Amino acid sequence: MITLKSHGHACFQLTTNDVSLLFDPFFTGNPKATTAPGEINCNYILTSHGHEDHLGDTVSIALRTGATVIATAEVAKLCNEQGCTAHAMHIGGKHAFDFGYVRITPAFHGSGVPGGHACGFIVNFFGKTIYFAGDTSIFGDMSLLGHLENIDYALLPIGDNFTMGPSDAAEAANLLKPGNVIPMHYNTWPIIAQDPTAFKKDVEERFNIPVHIVNPGQEITLL
Ligand code: NI
Ligand code: MN
Repeated sequence: MITLKSHGHACFQLTTNDVSLLFDPFFTGNPKATTAPGEINCNYILTSHGHEDHLGDTVSIALRTGATVIATAEVAKLCNEQGCTAHAMHIGGKHAFDFGYVRITPAFHGSGVPGGHACGFIVNFFGKTIYFAGDTSIFGDMSLLGHLENIDYALLPIGDNFTMGPSDAAEAANLLKPGNVIPMHYNTWPIIAQDPTAFKKDVEERFNIPVHIVNPGQEITLL
């Protein structure tokens, strides 16, 4: 059984019995976080870019737990310099880990690190394929990602202002053609206030793709 837990904003945690993988660990300063960073246990941390709401508590959690940080080279170097074990990758690269594999995808967004790139991740986690888009606009090559990988769950930002908003995210879902969609990166602050139920209705009615709203502190079982 694989579970996916939301810690609010773009922070999600994939877990099976003894392996846990954390995306964008933003706990400190996250108004939606329901867990303290000191209570988190994980084996891997996938950090999409250097903005505070994504890099977040990466270093402190990695140092305490010994988790390996997986990120683009510039973000990995930053974590490495602070004593973390980091595995550097870059856009277009794929690498096998003990849980499956990670493919680094493009994301159209600032990196938060000089010379760096923001990215997304396609993670094969014990046979389930999860696309974590990171902070990004919609882009046409999402259809190519959907062709290259058979995506079971796509985590897409819907907050607008900093990333794509609900209508673009709905079109992104149609390009990716995943089995399921999970919205993220909304309602953390008023500037990214959105109605996820309206997004769910739109995607399900127009594109026939199930949308699962996972509220902060909740977890779902990936089927
Ligand atoms: Ni960002
Ligand atoms: Mn962000």
